[in-house]
Amino acid sequence: GETPEEHAFQARIDAGEKIEPKEWMPEGYRKTLIRQISQHAHSEIVGQLPEGNWITRAPTLERKAILLAKVQDEAGHGLYLYSAAETLGISRDEMTEQLLSGKAKYSSIFNYPTLTWADMGAIGWLVDGAAIMNQVPLQRTSYGPYSRAMIRICKEESFHQRQGFHIMMKMARGTDAQREMAQDALNRFWYPSLMMFGPSDKDSVHSQQSMAWKIKINTNDELRQRFVNETVPQAEFLGLTVPDPDLAWNEEKQGYDFTEPDWSEFYEVLKGNGPCNRERLGARQKAWDDGAWFRDGLTAYAEKAAARRAA
Ligand code: 3HC
Repeated sequence: GETPEEHAFQARIDAGEKIEPKEWMPEGYRKTLIRQISQHAHSEIVGQLPEGNWITRAPTLERKAILLAKVQDEAGHGLYLYSAAETLGISRDEMTEQLLSGKAKYSSIFNYPTLTWADMGAIGWLVDGAAIMNQVPLQRTSYGPYSRAMIRICKEESFHQRQGFHIMMKMARGTDAQREMAQDALNRFWYPSLMMFGPSDKDSVHSQQSMAWKIKINTNDELRQRFVNETVPQAEFLGLTVPDPDLAWNEEKQGYDFTEPDWSEFYEVLKGNGPCNRERLGARQKAWDDGAWFRDGLTAYAEKAAARRAA
């Protein structure tokens, strides 16, 4: 049964109130938020790697500048989200340790390789498109710091999606070779993008409780369906083909029927057996190791400054 505090807390959630860091919250609420926000932050930081791979290979100076700005934005999104998670009583170091040890997850999508420039278009269009679908509702999440981080992040995500779509437009309307690259990128990123919304609702571990606490606003399948409904017409506009022979408009449900991703592949990637898992974590481990001298310097300086103040 519910304790009086839990009952009062749920009444606040149901009334649409924002919960702030210093206020009482059930331990489960805190734990779920730490899990989701820290993994969201890890996704932003690891998500810089696939795109970073193409900054030095961008086809024009303008494209290089745009991609650089987007990758820098992702770093900022990670910092907002790590800061939101820290308000719940976990340190940045603990979260980094959870990522590097494999205890914490990051979005499966970033374990796929970026093989051509068209992948930069597909990532902006599909991956940031899916992230927008998921993050716009999260602006209304019940935890204050997370909601405010989402509001800020959503403002920048539309630029990310738009610049990706422009790359796809340019290539889909370019030479045959460019159009084939754009179609190849769509083929490789379509199903992994559908996986970003999480397992089917029937297999979702956290959805029910997360929705009761307004940590999750829509179910995984709802957002996946919304993403397909919006994206298929965009693919048609580009003159590209979604790699799903069973994709069909269903007049009755006013949405597309579509083939689900291969969930066995999804769980393999989550287990660490995706194409790039080791490479991505290796890059984050190296960044942590290479930064040790700098962190030690800052810590030593802070200790000396504190000693001077105390003297
Ligand atoms: N990749 C990795 N893990 C995933 C996943 C995915 N695509 N989808 C689900 N999972 C994990 C969940 O984290 C959970 O594992 P855990 O208990 O160890 O955390 C398990 O699979 C069961 O899934 P559930 O549906 O029960 O879990 P959630 O209720 O947490 O729903 C979620 C999953 C929809 C991703 C939700 O956590 C969420 O909305 N998170 C915030 C959004 C987010 O993290 N987006 C990352 C996208 S990339 C991004 O934003 C960067 C952008 O700039 C491109």
